[in-house]
Formats: sequence, C-alpha cells, structure tokens
Amino acid sequence: MPTVPSANPAEHLARTVDIVALLERGRAMSTPVLRAAVDRLAPPMNTVSSYHFGWIDAQGRPAEGDGGKAVRPALALLSAEAAGAAPEVGVPGAVAVELVHNFSLLHDDLMDGDEQRRHRDTVWKVHGPAQAILVGDALFALANELLLELGTVEAGRATRRLTTATRKLIDGQAQDISYEHRERVTVEECLEMEGNKTGALLACAASIGAVLGGADDRTADALERYGYHLGLAFQAVDDILGIWGDPESTGKQTWSDLRQRKKSLPVVAALAAGGPASHRLGELLAADVKSNDFESFSEEEFAARAALIEAAGGRDWTSEEARRQHAVAVETLDAVDMPEQVRAQLTALADFVVVRNR
Ligand code: IPE
Ligand code: IPE
Ligand code: MG
Ligand code: MG
Repeated sequence: MPTVPSANPAEHLARTVDIVALLERGRAMSTPVLRAAVDRLAPPMNTVSSYHFGWIDAQGRPAEGDGGKAVRPALALLSAEAAGAAPEVGVPGAVAVELVHNFSLLHDDLMDGDEQRRHRDTVWKVHGPAQAILVGDALFALANELLLELGTVEAGRATRRLTTATRKLIDGQAQDISYEHRERVTVEECLEMEGNKTGALLACAASIGAVLGGADDRTADALERYGYHLGLAFQAVDDILGIWGDPESTGKQTWSDLRQRKKSLPVVAALAAGGPASHRLGELLAADVKSNDFESFSEEEFAARAALIEAAGGRDWTSEEARRQHAVAVETLDAVDMPEQVRAQLTALADFVVVRNR
C-alpha cells in the first residue's frame, strides 16, 4: 500500500491501527465459544476438530498451533461496532462464520488434494477422508445451531444471511472444480467464481455483527458490499500466494494450484493477455487438461508454467485487481455512518488483506 499522506481521514487513521491486536481480539473473544461448540461433537470428531484448529497435535497432545489468521472473527466484531453495538454482540456471528469457513477448508483440502494447511498435515491426510467430510458437515451444523439457539429475531436474520452465503460458497467451489477440466475460463467467470467461493462469506462476516446488533438492512447490505469486495481482494492475493507464495509463510505446499489445474486469476488473466508467453501457456495448459498424469510434473515444469504466467502479465494483473477491489471495499464504507475508529479499523483490515504473505 502507498505510504503517501492521504486526504481520506479514515485511511490516515487506519495507519495507526494495530492490526495484530485487532486480529488477536477476534481470536481471543471467539475461541472459548468455538471450543465449547466443538466439545459438543461426538468422539472422534471433537478431537479431529481440535487438531484442525491447532489446539492439539496429531498425537493428541496439547499444542499452540496455527489456527489461521482469524480475519473473519475480527470482521464480525467490527461489524457489530459499526452498528453501534458492543463487540461482544458480534461473537456468536464471529464463531458461526469461522465454523463455516473451517467446514469449507476441511472439504476444500480433500477436493484440492492438498496435504498441508496452516503448517500441518491436513485432516484428511491424518485422519482420513471420512473424518474430513464428517467434521466439515458437523461444523456447518454447529454454526447454524449456535446462531439459532440465541432465539432472537436478529439471530434469525443472521442465520438467513449465513446460509445464503454458505450456499454461494458451495456454488463457487463447484465452479472452481469445474474450471479445472476446462481449457479456457474468462476473467469474468473467474471473478464470479471467486466472489462466490470467498466473497460471499467475507461479506457475511462483515455484516453479521451489525445484523445481530439490530442494524437495518441498508446498513447490513452496505457492510456486505464492503466484505464482498474485500473477499475478491483476499482471493486475488490467495491466488498469487497459491503460485508464488513461500511455503514457510503460507503453511501450504508449493504449486498446489498448478498441480490441480486451477484456473485462478493469474492464469486466466495470462491466458487473456495475448502475446507469445500467453500463447505458449495456452498450449501447455490445453495439453495438461487432457493429460491424466499431472502428479508426476517436475519442479521445472511447474516453474516453467509459473514463469509463463508471470511473463504474460498474469501476476501483475492480479496484484492490480487486488488493489482495485481493496479501493472499492474501502470506498463502500463511506455509505455507512459509523464511529471513525471503527471505519479506520475496517480500512486497516482491508490494507492487511492485500499486503499479507500468508
Ligand atoms: C483460506 O482462507 C481460504 C480462502 C477463502 C482463500 P484464510 O486464508 O482466511 O484461511 P485461515 O483461516 O487464515 O487459515
Ligand atoms: C478456498 O479456496 C475457498 C473455500 C474453501 C470456499 P482455495 O482452495 O483457493 O483456498 P486455499 O488456497 O486452499 O486456502
Ligand atoms: Mg479450492
Ligand atoms: Mg484449496
């Protein structure tokens, strides 16, 4: 992000926000409720969930593992504050969204064949695919149970928004998987898919606290738009990290998106760019889609594809897209009346999303 002085007071104030403390607050306030929710699950799902969240290691010993960045809980608490409510009001929403997010990760790692997440072996790798499916399903059910047992009108509205977001997330996953088998995907199709698989849940996180705090639909919808564009920025960065990320930072294995023939943003932007590198990439990927022998790719073959994507401009285009979506997200906040400190924190969270390396 540029460090030039800004005319926008929220952007200026955002630079003073302690983002680590903001993410830590979300994690600290939501973890006890998350742990109590997971304790409801029958063995071994309670233990498998605890492993996934990093609370225990693969041998069942207590651990202080990487439980993820906790971006969504931080957003949900800020969302409550944006509506003038206390952050505590957002906690059930924060936990419910984090449960849906982790449900999607458990299933996603199985679908993507990924063996590493958050610097650990994935659940399907350690405990088998059946546990990954079961625990994913269980976390989704828990998310709705936690919200609905609040028994309020606001909780009903929040659950409605969460289930719609989850259905879109699943639509996005289905699109993502179907694109693996296509030679060509347009940039528009990719953005629609990413808006579904990632934008919808971030949109929900950014509005659910406000809904629980009694905000009207206009306010909730504006916060949702902020979260949606934040989600598109988030996924653009995820796509860059999915090809060029350092496994030491990301906690994921290298080349996973290329291994899985993903038509992520850098790939589709490179294919759309035209020129020699774009054409060569198109030829290679067309052959890859037809081949059943992808696992045996060598380091050099992955590196060659990554280099062509970069030479065709796919990496730069995707970084620019992250910036464009970031700008739209921050601009959308102007439509909502909220305390300036909260606006600054939401702006800082958006800044974090585009500069992160994990
Ligand atoms: C990864 O989400 C999946 C996407 C939607 C891109 P995060 O990067 O938020 O995962 P954690 O929770 O921090 O590990
Ligand atoms: C994750 O998408 C989005 C959902 C799970 C809905 P990705 O497959 O791109 O995310 P990572 O890179 O595995 O975290
Ligand atoms: Mg995936
Ligand atoms: Mg994945």
